[in-house]
Amino acid sequence: MYQKVTVVGAGNVGATTAQRLAEKELCDVVLIDVVEGIPQGKALDLAEAAPIEKHDSHLTGSNGYEESEGSNIIIITAGIPRKPGMSRDDLISTNAAIVKSVTQEVVKWSPDAVLIIVSNPLDAMCHVAYETSGFPKNRVMGMAGILDSARFRAFISMELNVSVENTHAFVLGGHGDTMVPLPRFSTVAGIPITELLSKKQVDALVERTRKGGAEIVSLLKTGSAYYAPASAAVEMAESILKDKKKILPCAAYLEGEYGINGLFIGVPVKLGLEGIEEVIQVTLLDEEQAALNKSADAVKELVESLKKLA
Ligand code: NAI
Ligand code: 2OP
Repeated sequence: MYQKVTVVGAGNVGATTAQRLAEKELCDVVLIDVVEGIPQGKALDLAEAAPIEKHDSHLTGSNGYEESEGSNIIIITAGIPRKPGMSRDDLISTNAAIVKSVTQEVVKWSPDAVLIIVSNPLDAMCHVAYETSGFPKNRVMGMAGILDSARFRAFISMELNVSVENTHAFVLGGHGDTMVPLPRFSTVAGIPITELLSKKQVDALVERTRKGGAEIVSLLKTGSAYYAPASAAVEMAESILKDKKKILPCAAYLEGEYGINGLFIGVPVKLGLEGIEEVIQVTLLDEEQAALNKSADAVKELVESLKKLA
């Protein structure tokens, strides 16, 4: 295959991401982890599934970075996940050190790659990768909005008993409890959900979306979600590799858009070969903008706390 994606972190999200990338035959995949044997074993296991799954993507597992050379995209999932009782923010000191060291390595081998960050707390980890890599802002982004929107879509489809394919949802803001699901822009077959559901129903779906990550953590008990997160990361990679120019909600570095400056936060962007090719701006109602500002303040606080760790 002529395109290559490196996934750093061969845990639940990383291995599932590698599986989906390979099975969609989007690229060759390099899986990297610090634990000896794990990336090699998982890559080999996935390669052995290839004859049955009918794809010719090559999979390589490694504890080093040499094999990642010349990757088009690097997806960083390395770090610790949260357990019951922990918030995403509780992961900050451990994961900031991991994301920094991983970024230092990957940029040496793939100076032209697009970086997709998955490790939590997501928006703050994007800052770490952005500052460490020195890459332009269009080539550093975070995965969260697609996941949060997919959760909202799943809940809308369950509530209305309609196909998920008919649903579209829009979630802005940081990947945390302050995220901003926007019912006004969330639709079923083009009809805003505010026309199809009562305010009470919509409010309940918004609240479930905000707590979607915690709902899975409380069920799994040993870690956090990975099937939907992997699907979301792969949707971003696919849009970039195929230059599809999909409009997707991603964490992007804003410089004035939505009134936010110098911060990664979830907004709709156009994803193509260059990475983030455009930040799509929509006019928000006063209360929507206030919710986004509150979410941005929460991200800013986390980013400030990173400076104290340094
Ligand atoms: P996991 O524990 O299953 O896997 C993490 C992997 O990272 C482990 O295999 C570990 O050995 C590896 N690792 C740790 N330090 C490393 C280093 N320096 N270099 C290379 N690999 C290293 O965790 P899981 O469930 O895969 O989650 C990974 C991260 O993604 C967590 O921080 C989690 O909170 C985050 N996450 C973010 C989501 C989002 O929406 N942005 C969604 C789901 C998870
Ligand atoms: C999630 O939302 C843990 O951020 C991860 O599932």
